[in-house]
Amino acid sequence: STKKLWGGRFQAQAAKWVDEFGASISFDQLMAEEDIEGSLAHVKMLGHTKILNAADVDKIVNGLVDLREELHAGKLHFTVENEDIHMNIEALLTEKIGPTAGKLHTARSRNDQVATDFHLYLKKRLPKVIDEITTLQQTLVAMAEQNVETIMPGYTHLQHAQPISYGHYLMAYYQMLKRDKERFAFNMKHTDIMPLGAAALAGTTFPIDRADTARELGFGQIYANSLDAVSDRDFALEFLSNSSILMLHLSRFCEEISMWVSHEFKYLELSDAYTTGSSIMPQKKNPDMAELIRGKTGRVYGHLMQLFSTMKSLPLAYNKDLQEDKEGVFDTVKTLLPSLKVFNGMLKTAKPNVARMKQATENDFSNATELADYLAAKGVPFRQAHGIVGQLVLKGIKSHQNLQDMSLADLQQASPKIEADVYHDLKSEVAVERRHSFGGTGFDQVKQQIEQAKQELSE
Ligand code: ARG
Repeated sequence: STKKLWGGRFQAQAAKWVDEFGASISFDQLMAEEDIEGSLAHVKMLGHTKILNAADVDKIVNGLVDLREELHAGKLHFTVENEDIHMNIEALLTEKIGPTAGKLHTARSRNDQVATDFHLYLKKRLPKVIDEITTLQQTLVAMAEQNVETIMPGYTHLQHAQPISYGHYLMAYYQMLKRDKERFAFNMKHTDIMPLGAAALAGTTFPIDRADTARELGFGQIYANSLDAVSDRDFALEFLSNSSILMLHLSRFCEEISMWVSHEFKYLELSDAYTTGSSIMPQKKNPDMAELIRGKTGRVYGHLMQLFSTMKSLPLAYNKDLQEDKEGVFDTVKTLLPSLKVFNGMLKTAKPNVARMKQATENDFSNATELADYLAAKGVPFRQAHGIVGQLVLKGIKSHQNLQDMSLADLQQASPKIEADVYHDLKSEVAVERRHSFGGTGFDQVKQQIEQAKQELSE
């Protein structure tokens, strides 16, 4: 036999570089806390069910508690020889309490152990992600509240379409984030299922009590099928998928911010604290943080595609391929939390250029729909009204005049239904204010949306 924990049936040792290839300790040590937690619950259960005697259980529990303290103090040293976090902890426990440590693995396999650690790891991080999203939502609502009547161009095809409220724009992202949060909350439901007790793949002959370990670890549910418990990673796929959608949302906002701080737009001014200079061009103030969050979105998609590809066609139950499930998830957590935090800080300190945004709605034809609606309200069929205004726009382009700059006589030539009150309707703030339809950009609607959001955030 060889020196490995599982060395009984082995005669030859793997070369060090082969061990290194197979080892996961370099990254799964991130789950050291969860591994000890899982072992504590497991061994206590072995005591409750009399599978182990009280003296052995106490010895193991004390050893694990000591290891946990050493972990917190940064004193635990892991080795590649011990392959992964599970065997490293067991080896350290053996060093500490002797061969009794070997009883810990009764009625357990690394397969249900690693799945349990991974569920616990994500279960602890999901609330943090949800909290960071909530913080960003609070910023959005506070900013929207200050900008209900800030008028800006609304775009389709990146062309001026119709004027909108900047508050309405901000609240659009609030709504996306609301659904993101719901997705992560649903993800929590599937992360809150305990694999422990599935053993290697088939369950165990020992009279274990899975409800006991689940209670101790705070799991709401227990995997009902041992093969499923050790071999699926759909909770991780959901996390990566939800994270991809969240990052996608942030990336769109980042793209807009990057455009809006440009010389061409100048809608927004970012705080110096969230921008960077150039090593050669002294005048530069670059929206690096927005670009970086936009860029990191690709990284998260990559992790999603990687795990999808790893899981595809994988036969039941455990396969070593599954060791590839962790790094992408760890990196996604490491990417998501600071991305949300930096984005929040960047947005909170960004100043809209209110005059410039408004001005951009006055030097264009984005009030053309207003005129068509004005005619339609006076009984002109909308299609016909659309045609009339289209003609006026064409005329305006040629004569370098916007609709509101045309004389009443000119407008009346296009349609006798047009009267002097039309100039009121052609103002961009009026165009926004009047959009009272539910969910529209009308001031009253935006205010209502904000009130609703505040209530949601206080729940
Ligand atoms: N390090 C392994 C992983 O991350 C732990 C489970 C190993 N189980 C096994 N039968 N080789 O998946």
